[in-house]
Amino acid sequence: MATQAEAASPYDRIGGSDVLRRITDRFYDLMDSDPAYKALRAMHAADLAPMRESLPGFLSGWCGGPRQWFEANPGKCMMSMHKPFPITHKTAGQWADCMARAIADAAPDNREIADAMTDVLARMAKGMALD
Ligand code: HEM
Repeated sequence: MATQAEAASPYDRIGGSDVLRRITDRFYDLMDSDPAYKALRAMHAADLAPMRESLPGFLSGWCGGPRQWFEANPGKCMMSMHKPFPITHKTAGQWADCMARAIADAAPDNREIADAMTDVLARMAKGMALD
């Protein structure tokens, strides 16, 4: 029989919605303030508030937590969401680096799941580059 620890989803292990919100806020704070992410920031709308709402909901369902975001956005997927944006190796690399820093800053307690999420998200982002 699986133990409690083995059965816990990545959502639970990272710390649930509070931690996903903290990661997201740190991600957009860094994107908004560090010139290293200038090209990535320029792709986004001036107002990042809608993204601060949307990304934690997406991440929740994506890592095994509540799925309201997917229920509210039927048929939306990574490809359709990003179709309008010509993602390059440069901007995908900026996304992955910014997210790695955000996770390290906002979810320092459980290195194993934090490192696993960082790795998978970086692979996803880099796989989205069109060049
Ligand atoms: C590869 C690098 C990526 C770039 C350059 C990128 C860029 C963008 C941009 C420009 C937007 C629209 C933002 C706005 O309207 O202000 C967006 C939306 C979004 N992105 Fe990404 N993105 C990337 C990777 C990812 C990844 C890996 C995820 C998920 C883990 C993700 C999740 C989302 C979500 C949930 C939205 C909001 C969609 C909506 O609410 O309609 N993105 N992205």
